[in-house]
Amino acid sequence: MKSSHISLAIISLVASCSAMWLDTNNKSSVIENAGIIVDGVMDYYDGNRYGGTVGMFVWPYYWWEAGGVWGSLIDYTYFTKNETLVPIIKEALLYQTGDDNNYIPLNQSTTEGNDDQGFWGIAVMGAAERNFSNPDDDSKSWLTLAQAVFNTMTARWDEAECDGGLRWQIFQWNSGYDYKNSVSNGCLFHIGARLARYTANDSYVVWAERVWEWMYGIGLLTEGDWWFVYDGVNVGGNCTNLTKYQWTYNQGLMLAGCAYLYNYTEDEKWLNRTLNLLTASKVFFSDINGENVMYEAACQPSNNCNNDQRSFKAYFSRFLGLTSILVPQTNSVIRQWLVDSANWANKNSCTGGFDGHTCGLNWFNSTGWDGYWGLGEQISALEVTQNLLTYDLPPPYTANNGGSSVGNPAAGYATTNSNASPLTLGTKDKAGAGIITAVIGVSLVASGVWLVL
Ligand SMILES: *[C@@H]1O[C@H](CO)[C@@H](O)[C@H](O)[C@H]1NC(C)=O
Ligand SMILES: *[C@@H]1O[C@H](CO)[C@@H](O)[C@H](O)[C@H]1NC(C)=O
Ligand SMILES: *[C@@H]1O[C@H](CO)[C@@H](O)[C@H](O)[C@H]1NC(C)=O
Ligand SMILES: *[C@@H]1O[C@H](CO)[C@@H](O)[C@H](O)[C@H]1NC(C)=O
Ligand SMILES: *[C@@H]1O[C@H](CO)[C@@H](O)[C@H](O)[C@H]1NC(C)=O
Ligand SMILES: *[C@@H]1O[C@H](CO)[C@@H](O)[C@H](O)[C@H]1NC(C)=O
Ligand SMILES: *[C@@H]1O[C@H](CO)[C@@H](O)[C@H](O)[C@H]1NC(C)=O
Ligand SMILES: *[C@@H]1O[C@H](CO)[C@@H](O)[C@H](O)[C@H]1NC(C)=O
Ligand SMILES: *[C@@H]1O[C@H](CO)[C@@H](O)[C@H](O)[C@H]1NC(C)=O
Ligand SMILES: *[C@@H]1O[C@H](CO)[C@@H](O)[C@H](O)[C@H]1NC(C)=O
Repeated sequence: MKSSHISLAIISLVASCSAMWLDTNNKSSVIENAGIIVDGVMDYYDGNRYGGTVGMFVWPYYWWEAGGVWGSLIDYTYFTKNETLVPIIKEALLYQTGDDNNYIPLNQSTTEGNDDQGFWGIAVMGAAERNFSNPDDDSKSWLTLAQAVFNTMTARWDEAECDGGLRWQIFQWNSGYDYKNSVSNGCLFHIGARLARYTANDSYVVWAERVWEWMYGIGLLTEGDWWFVYDGVNVGGNCTNLTKYQWTYNQGLMLAGCAYLYNYTEDEKWLNRTLNLLTASKVFFSDINGENVMYEAACQPSNNCNNDQRSFKAYFSRFLGLTSILVPQTNSVIRQWLVDSANWANKNSCTGGFDGHTCGLNWFNSTGWDGYWGLGEQISALEVTQNLLTYDLPPPYTANNGGSSVGNPAAGYATTNSNASPLTLGTKDKAGAGIITAVIGVSLVASGVWLVL
């Protein structure tokens, strides 16, 4: 059943189109390509298939990645002004909120991590900032949902071990509960930064600062010549055992978070942090004939990227686009990176499959499409392409300037699933949940090499 889903996805990729041409200075050309790539994304959507689930993509793409994809598609509708997908996106975002409107839906609640919830939080934050079509029900407004995610995450801030930080997992029975990682804490930092700018409420700045200081103190953030973001740290041994993988999306979460904070506070500290993280982002670009082409350095060269990791370049591209708008000093560097990467992705990599425009993982493979395909490959190419359009449009809206989403700063607090308080689960459920996260954990550790400069 699972593999038939996938072959369905491939077979439905039959369209008539020649290999992708792109002129990055020609807006129509960028929009046209984004439209072709987005059709490839929707081939993986499960919600309008018989027996499928609204908001979810086909197996083996997990719930968190769906949150990532909806974030990409919200921007797609904003950048291209193509409204076709608006009803589908809206339905998906509202269907998956969970009973407590905090993105801990019952189907996910046994396995959900802070990072998973965070990616849906980022999607709805983006919806507020893009003035995406508002829900009728204010208790599910985009801003309220983002605040509920933020509030339930801060409620899990854990001072008991290592003086702070979020654990990777929400629930004790999941392996990874003893790991405090950058993506979970980075999501909290990033959403806090965006809420601060959108609402002009300084409490969010205080939280963002707290997360930054904790991550820095524990060694997840390095400074000096290279400002890196490491994967995470084991709680055992008082958080001294760091796992030093570097992923594009973690660098991007912190980078764009700093950019939002600088844009809002105008505090030079955040400008410096933005610029330093940007300089270090260079490790995720390979010099190909003098052009800088994005790649997932920890797993791509060794052909070891798992399904999750194959989508990271999408979020990194989105975060780079946001940074270049919010901190104009970064604009020329980022824009050139996006232009070079989009050129290689479109002309060299999105040439695969039966349809001739399925996108691969390695955009600079010497023989063109590298044979990889999937939802992650497709949204990565979409984001790097569509972010070229960001320069012609208004910056992310705020409550005072273009945004219409009405918030509730107390959202999420009164709910039952907001904490790490154990649900009542049978032993079988616990074992199942544990195995799923153990597999993810092992593949994370087994994949890739540490980046050494
Ligand atoms: C811009 O791209 C569009 C869409 O591909 C194409 O029709 C048009 O000719 C291009 N314009 C220029 C000046 O190249
Ligand atoms: C608009 O979006 C739809 C749905 O993804 C897509 O099929 C269509 O090609 C897009 N239109 C253009 C002009 O790109
Ligand atoms: C939860 O799973 C059931 C069974 O697969 C499905 O029918 C339902 O739509 C799912 N709900 C959500 C919110 O995903
Ligand atoms: C600002 O945000 C904090 C933290 O979420 C909240 O407690 C407070 O009510 C908010 N203040 C206003 C004026 O919205
Ligand atoms: C654990 O680490 C924190 C932060 O580095 C430090 O403040 C605390 O004293 C350490 N505790 C122990 C028991 O070593
Ligand atoms: C350090 O972390 C690694 C990877 O998470 C783990 O395999 C190892 O056992 C840990 N070492 C110690 C001393 O805790
Ligand atoms: C920011 O960086 C500049 C240049 O390196 C330095 O002079 C300045 O003191 C820094 N500001 C802060 C607040 O760290
Ligand atoms: C904030 O972003 C806007 C929009 O791009 C820009 O005009 C403004 O200069 C930025 N503010 C700062 C302090 O960089
Ligand atoms: C390039 O693509 C070919 C398939 O076309 C594949 O065999 C090869 O491993 C790829 N190389 C890299 C470096 O990805
Ligand atoms: C945002 O959406 C609201 C409600 O649809 C609309 O009235 C307003 O004009 C929109 N703002 C912008 C900047 O487009």
